[in-house]
Amino acid sequence: MAHPATTNSSNRRSLCSYLALVLSHVIFVVAENGEPTAIRISCGSSHNSLITEQSYLWLKDFGYTGGSSAPIDAKITGAPQLTTLRYFQVSDGPENCYNITVPYGHYLIRFVFAYGDIDNSNREPQFDVSLEGTLVHSLKPGWSAEFDMSCVDSLVFINDGAATACFHSSGHGNPAVVSLEILQIHNLAYEILVPSNKYTILKTVKRISCSAISSGYGADFNADPWGGNRRWVTDNGLTKGTSDQLRTSKSIQNCCGAPNFYPEIIYQSASTTGIGASLYYTFDIEPNQNYSIWLHFAEISDVIVSKEQRVFDILVNDRLIFTDIDIISLAGGPFTALVLNKTVLVEGRTLNLTFRPVQRGILVNAVEIYQVISMEFVTTECEVWSLQALKHSLGLPSRIGWNGDPCVPQEHPWNGLDCSFNVKGGSWSIVGLDLHDQGLKGQIGGAISSLSQLRKI
Ligand SMILES: *[C@@H]1O[C@H](CO)[C@@H](O)[C@H](O)[C@H]1NC(C)=O
Ligand SMILES: *[C@@H]1O[C@H](CO)[C@@H](O)[C@H](O)[C@H]1NC(C)=O
Ligand SMILES: *[C@@H]1O[C@H](CO)[C@@H](O)[C@H](O)[C@H]1NC(C)=O
Ligand SMILES: *[C@@H]1O[C@H](CO)[C@@H](O)[C@H](O)[C@H]1NC(C)=O
Repeated sequence: MAHPATTNSSNRRSLCSYLALVLSHVIFVVAENGEPTAIRISCGSSHNSLITEQSYLWLKDFGYTGGSSAPIDAKITGAPQLTTLRYFQVSDGPENCYNITVPYGHYLIRFVFAYGDIDNSNREPQFDVSLEGTLVHSLKPGWSAEFDMSCVDSLVFINDGAATACFHSSGHGNPAVVSLEILQIHNLAYEILVPSNKYTILKTVKRISCSAISSGYGADFNADPWGGNRRWVTDNGLTKGTSDQLRTSKSIQNCCGAPNFYPEIIYQSASTTGIGASLYYTFDIEPNQNYSIWLHFAEISDVIVSKEQRVFDILVNDRLIFTDIDIISLAGGPFTALVLNKTVLVEGRTLNLTFRPVQRGILVNAVEIYQVISMEFVTTECEVWSLQALKHSLGLPSRIGWNGDPCVPQEHPWNGLDCSFNVKGGSWSIVGLDLHDQGLKGQIGGAISSLSQLRKI
C-alpha cells in the first residue's frame, strides 16, 4: 500500500507535468504575420520614452527580481535617451533576473551594459549573463573599453512563454545593465541545424558591414523590422589585412527577403583587394567551440562584369571552407546578393577568416560570426514551483538569491542546493538542500514533497 504522502505528491507531480505538457502545446500556435513582437526596456527608468525618428518605445523598467536604479552619465551610442541602469548588490543576492512574457518565437536579445559611480564606484564590474538558463555572455576585464563590447546580442527561441535573462555575480563588483531588448525574428532565420535551431543559441561574435561609412542598427539602414534591428559594425577599426573601400548606390537584387531580412545597404559597400592580394579578418574567440559563419557578397565593381573574372577561396585558420567562389556565377549576375554559411569547430583562441584570390582580387560585403551554444536542460517545472513556495514560506532574505532556474546555468546554481541531471527525463532535479548557517527560521511546508529526488536536507 502506498504511503499517503507519496500518493499525494505523485498526484501533484502528474498534474504539474500534465499542465506543463498542455501549455507547451498551446504556446506553439502563433501568427507569424504582421509586426514582430518588440520589447525594449530602459533598465532603471521610471517612465516610458518614445524615440520619434525610429518610432521605438523604450519602456520603463519592469519584470525584474530586485536591484536598484542609478543614473549613467556616459551617452550610449545609438540610444542617447538611456540615462539610467539597474544594478544588483550583494544584498540583492548572487543572481537576479528579468522575466518578460513573450509569445512563442525566435528572438534577438540584446543588452547594453555600463557602470558608474553610484552602482560600482567607477570600477568596471565582471559578471555572467544567462538566457533561458544557459550561460551566454561573460563580461571579462576590459569589456567597457568599446561600445561594441558592451552592446551584445544573441538569437534564441523562447518556448516557455517568458524570456528569462539572469545576471550572475562573480564577486567582482555589481552586475549592471542599461537596456534589454527582446526583438522577434523569423522562426527560420539563421537555420543551421535541420529541422531547427530550437535548442541552440547563436551568440553574435561580430556582425560586420565591410567599408560601411559608420556602424548602425537595422532601423538606421531601413531594414525590415523582422530583421531584429541587428547592429552592423564597420570594419574600419577591426584587425584585418589591407583593403580598399568600394561603394555603390545601385540597387541589389535578391538581397533582403525572408527569413533573414538583410538591409540592402550592407551589399552596397565592400572591402576589396587588388590582383593577387588576400584579405583577412581575425577575431578573438572562445576556443573549442562551433562557429556559424555567414558571408555576404554582391559584385558591385564596374570592372568585373561577368563570371570567371573574380574567383577566390575562403579559409578559416588555414582550413578551406569554400573553394572557387565566383560571385557573379553563383548569384546569377552582378549587383545580386549571394549568402554563404558554414559552421566550423575552431580549436584556438583566434578565428582567422581569409579570402585568397584565385582570379584577380577579393570583394566581400558583410560578415557575420556566431558562436553556437547548446541550450542547457532546465530544472523540472514542478521542482521550481516548490522551491519558490519554499522560498516564500521560509521568507528567504533577498541576499540568498534564488531567482531564475535552480540548477542552471551549471556554473551558477542556487545557494544551498545539490542538483543532479536525470538523463532519461532530460531535466535537472534537486537531490540535496542545505540552508543551515543561513540563520533562517520558518515552516518548510508541504511544497517540499514535490522534490521527488530529494535525498538529503
Ligand atoms: C560542434 O558541432 C559538432 C557537430 O554538430 C558536434 O558534434 C560537437 O559536439 C560540437 N562541439 C561543441 C563544443 O559544441
Ligand atoms: C547554409 O548552408 C547550407 C549548407 O551549405 C545550405 O544547405 C543552406 O541552404 C544555407 N542556408 C542559408 C539560409 O543560406
Ligand atoms: C591570418 O591569416 C593571414 C593570411 O593567411 C595572415 O597574414 C595573418 O597573419 C593571420 N593572422 C593571424 C592572427 O593568424
Ligand atoms: C516568468 O513569467 C511566467 C509568465 O509570466 C511565469 O509563468 C513564470 O513562472 C515566471 N518565471 C520565473 C522564474 O519567475
